Amino acid sequence: MTPDLAPSVRPFAADSAAASGEQAGWWRSAVIYQVYVRSFADSDGDGVGDLRGIRERLPYLAGLGVDALWLTPFYASPQADGGYDVADYRAVDPLFGQLSDADDLVREAHRLGLRVIVDIVPNHTSDQHVWFQEALADRPGGTARARYHFRPGRGEDGELPPNDWESVFGGPAWTRTTDADGRPGEWYLHLFAPEQPDLNWDSPEVREEFDSVLRFWLDLGVDGFRIDVAHGMVKAPGLPDIGRTEQAKLIGAQVLPFFDQDGVHEIHRAWRKLLDSYPGERVGVAEAWAPTSERLALYVRPDELHQAFNFQFLTCDWDADAMREVIDRSLAATASVGAPTTWVLSNHDVVRHVTRYGAGDGELGRTRARAAALLMLALPGSAYVYQGEELGLPEVVDLPDEVRQDPAFFRGDGQDGLRDGCRVPLPWSGEAAPYGFGPGGSWLPQPEQWAGLSVEAQSGDPRSMLELYRSALALRRQLPGLGDGDMGWLQAPEGVLAFSRPGFVCTLNTLGAEVTLPVPGRPVLASAALEFAGGTVRIPSNSCVWWAV
Ligand code: NOJ
Repeated sequence: MTPDLAPSVRPFAADSAAASGEQAGWWRSAVIYQVYVRSFADSDGDGVGDLRGIRERLPYLAGLGVDALWLTPFYASPQADGGYDVADYRAVDPLFGQLSDADDLVREAHRLGLRVIVDIVPNHTSDQHVWFQEALADRPGGTARARYHFRPGRGEDGELPPNDWESVFGGPAWTRTTDADGRPGEWYLHLFAPEQPDLNWDSPEVREEFDSVLRFWLDLGVDGFRIDVAHGMVKAPGLPDIGRTEQAKLIGAQVLPFFDQDGVHEIHRAWRKLLDSYPGERVGVAEAWAPTSERLALYVRPDELHQAFNFQFLTCDWDADAMREVIDRSLAATASVGAPTTWVLSNHDVVRHVTRYGAGDGELGRTRARAAALLMLALPGSAYVYQGEELGLPEVVDLPDEVRQDPAFFRGDGQDGLRDGCRVPLPWSGEAAPYGFGPGGSWLPQPEQWAGLSVEAQSGDPRSMLELYRSALALRRQLPGLGDGDMGWLQAPEGVLAFSRPGFVCTLNTLGAEVTLPVPGRPVLASAALEFAGGTVRIPSNSCVWWAV
């Protein structure tokens, strides 16, 4: 029996601002490519990617068909957490180049029609930041300490941390300082590594400084900011105990006194005003973890940020019902505030989705990843592509311990100790490592099998992941029904998702077996080969098809 593809429910209000297209802005439909700077392209042969390397490869990104880049932190930093420990927010780390390289990169990207979003890290600084050095030298209660969270310890001699909070990277979220006379002193708060002390956003000086830093980069021409830990800048008053031992997850949705506090929204509202005071639709993107889609939507209210990463989609299992539920919830939540939804499958903090979806079977993972890419790029809103996913790179699971750099790996039970495996430098060309990454080596070793996954090896091969992404991104520009806008579910058998958009239908078979459906239109792109018979089409297992109707 072949079930029909009749329209069923519409998951969100057609009269929402998003659906009417009233607030059309580039970011509402944009595909944004995440460049993990140290692993994209190395111009000088030190084995670490840099800004010039990115600039030289911009034609590749323009040709891929993305709209914008998001660059991970390239600021002056001791690199205790891959640059998310910033010592000077206005300087480029020599590892990545100099300020003029950032300027050149932004100009050249704009010339090629690409926008540039940079990372901003406001929850914490590096412990080498001049402010933190001043704070250490200051006395308890001094003005330099007021920029951070310093507290006396508990216990008879202050030998116990001020509260029971744990660091996301494992171990207590507090480190004790040593006074000038060599005696143990106050403790300071760090939700991440000890080298990343948390700023106190109650301090007007902190707020003024970040306004100035944002202006610095906006003046240089960047198109917006990806805001690191956008849900963590404000802590519950009094820094109350949690009352249980619970390590906060980097990718999690726990209710905790240091995440998703209502006070953060005031900061984002002020930043939105600042962004809007510049021409050219500069945007703010929240890296925010909230317990529900509804709480997350608060970050993208009309007077706050433009987008928030949809991690619920990233963490969703390969299961049609679960995916449909996440899609519905995400669309409903963002529609309620008139914001576009975002879709993301991978980033520099999670196991790459080829590996996640494959659960030990590489071929299955690749097959599902092809389908997932077409699903993601057909859904309403904006999408994020993490460098290398367009090449179908798997997670590198066998890195030797001595090359690892993720701070969580070194903090005992740090749950995120596997983040290096998704950060291995990209293979561009050639038969041997570093596969055109740069004239030297690469800071993490690339697997031998990556010759076949390089940009060069995949270019022109119609069956490759790269050509699938190129085709999908080109079609996304041509087909007016894609990007921001409306969608409606179509009836489909168990395990299959089918939805329509203006002039377009997408069908996803999540099952391990093929399904037969009535042909819904003209096939324009498929993640696997289709077979037609009569008025029906056989859709292979774990595959996705785009149809023009
Ligand atoms: C989120 C970033 O994506 C991650 O890489 C970093 O370790 C933490 N924030 C802390 O800045």
